[in-house]
Amino acid sequence: MSKLRVAFVGAGGMADAHLKAIKDFADVELVGLADPDPAKVEARLAQAAELRPADKPVGYGDPESMIKDAVPDAVWLLLPPFAHGAAERACLEAGVPFFIEKPVGLDWGLTQELVAAVEAEGLITCAGYMNRYRASLRRAKELLDADPPALVHGGWIGGSPNPKPGDTSIGSWWVIKEKSGGQIVEQCTHTFDVLRYLCGEAVEVYARAANGFNRDLYSYTIDDASSVVLTMANGGVANLMSSCSANGGGGGVWLNVYALGTTCLFTGWDHAVRILRKGAEPEEIKEQVDIFAVEDRVFVDAVRTGDGSAIASTYPDASKTLRLTLAANESIASGQPVTV
Ligand SMILES: NC(=O)c1ccc[n+]([C@@H]2O[C@H](COP(=O)([O-])OP(=O)(O)OC[C@H]3O[C@@H](n4cnc5c(N)ncnc54)[C@H](O)[C@@H]3O)[C@@H](O)[C@H]2O)c1
Repeated sequence: MSKLRVAFVGAGGMADAHLKAIKDFADVELVGLADPDPAKVEARLAQAAELRPADKPVGYGDPESMIKDAVPDAVWLLLPPFAHGAAERACLEAGVPFFIEKPVGLDWGLTQELVAAVEAEGLITCAGYMNRYRASLRRAKELLDADPPALVHGGWIGGSPNPKPGDTSIGSWWVIKEKSGGQIVEQCTHTFDVLRYLCGEAVEVYARAANGFNRDLYSYTIDDASSVVLTMANGGVANLMSSCSANGGGGGVWLNVYALGTTCLFTGWDHAVRILRKGAEPEEIKEQVDIFAVEDRVFVDAVRTGDGSAIASTYPDASKTLRLTLAANESIASGQPVTV
């Protein structure tokens, strides 16, 4: 069987993660890598030469010329939230399926336009909400589909960032709200997506933010902390919190889901779960998997077979998580609840 020709747009931190994830995929060939920063292209090509010596990927400065010249069968879009649009349009124009890292954008108008084009074309897409492939979430979903949650609380709490002048990595844009969307949109988006996956859609979002605690950080314009209250379509309620100002420790990633007869307690980046049920022994699920390799395998198989049914997060679905997090930002700005 011929190899699937794959290419990356964006040569930063997540290009590193996905390059390592596909390292042992024998049925793909990396043919191109595009990034406006020539130093990033060079460094990532050197890494590719080490990890996949049989491949001879070519470096490009922009996605359009890469797609025309390298003619990939599938493209990974590993871009900062503010840099979306041109790469998706180039994929759509060439009919090339794409994987896209979360969040899928920042501009809701652009995202809606791209969702419509993806749906009209029937293009296979896969978004980087990798937690949806975890055994812990799959088991919890099976139970919660039959026992809808009434209450959820969770969040993402860490220490203060330390942006530096001249940084060209994620640190250069993460702390600028206009570029990253802030911690809710860029980071806690995983938790909002898990909420949607396990509990269905939200109908109303009300959010408040704290500011002025992190001081004198270079280029920093994001909120220091936030609390978002969501009313779910099933009548349940949720509270998701974010903070990047907790330097004493004790933060982390968590999600506690309470239904009438089922409690699911998720902890950590890898979403290990403890499930409690009336009359049943507690269940513990903690996997040791490279979750990026798992989601990349699902995407590659979908493109190879033309069957996208195993993809747990498509671009159109992921856009709904973006909408929820943008609604939280809108609520922070207006002080009013936002109907979704
Ligand atoms: N799934 C996860 O757990 C996870 C973890 C970290 C980051 N992310 C997401 O992955 C995405 C990329 O993050 P990162 O850590 O790789 O960021 P990064 O800053 O390390 O890399 C981004 C790269 O994109 C390049 N770039 C900027 N504009 C471009 C454009 N118009 N065309 C092509 N390339 C462009 C930059 O030069 C840079 O090399 C972000 O959306 C981030 O939120 C996901």
